[in-house]
Amino acid sequence: MKPLVLYYSYSGNTKQVAEKIHQEIGGDIARIETVTPYTGDYNTVVNQGKKEVDQRYHPPIQPIGVDISQYDTIVLGSPVWWYTYAPAVASFLEQNSLAGKKVYPFITDGGWIGHTIKDLQQSCPDALVQPEIDIYFRASSMATSQEELSRWIHQIS
Ligand SMILES: Cc1cc2nc3c(=O)[nH]c(=O)nc-3n(C[C@H](O)[C@H](O)[C@H](O)COP(=O)(O)O)c2cc1C
Repeated sequence: MKPLVLYYSYSGNTKQVAEKIHQEIGGDIARIETVTPYTGDYNTVVNQGKKEVDQRYHPPIQPIGVDISQYDTIVLGSPVWWYTYAPAVASFLEQNSLAGKKVYPFITDGGWIGHTIKDLQQSCPDALVQPEIDIYFRASSMATSQEELSRWIHQIS
């Protein structure tokens, strides 16, 4: 069965990594998008993100365009928002069960990952959550090495 690379990305970093993973492993790629786009300057979105994370708000999301029952391996990407995964990913996980699937988490962040992985594991009960990769970006420049990313990609099965 082919894998699905599924990601949310606000400012493009997670998208960039998702596309690289997809190029290497093949299969399908899909994006989680909020119904209402985040608008305003970066700091406005950072502050809105804090409110959403604090209030555990799960924004409405658009259909992802693929049927997840067709995949038993999901490579799931999110930026870190306030020490956890992004609210749009929370919306997806609330609406979809990944039970029984192999889930490979990848996250991008500015160096403060917090409890993102623990939260993801808790939100995918009964999924077979595999070793994650945490990819550090300085603004929009990837600081984790390509070698480390490639090593992680190559163990996806
Ligand atoms: C709302 C918001 C909250 C963020 N919170 C964190 C954080 O807690 N820790 C961290 O290291 N980076 C944080 N960042 C930085 C992003 O995780 C980082 O830039 C990430 O690579 C962005 O991915 P994207 O371009 O795919 O959206 C935050 C960014 C935003 C917009």
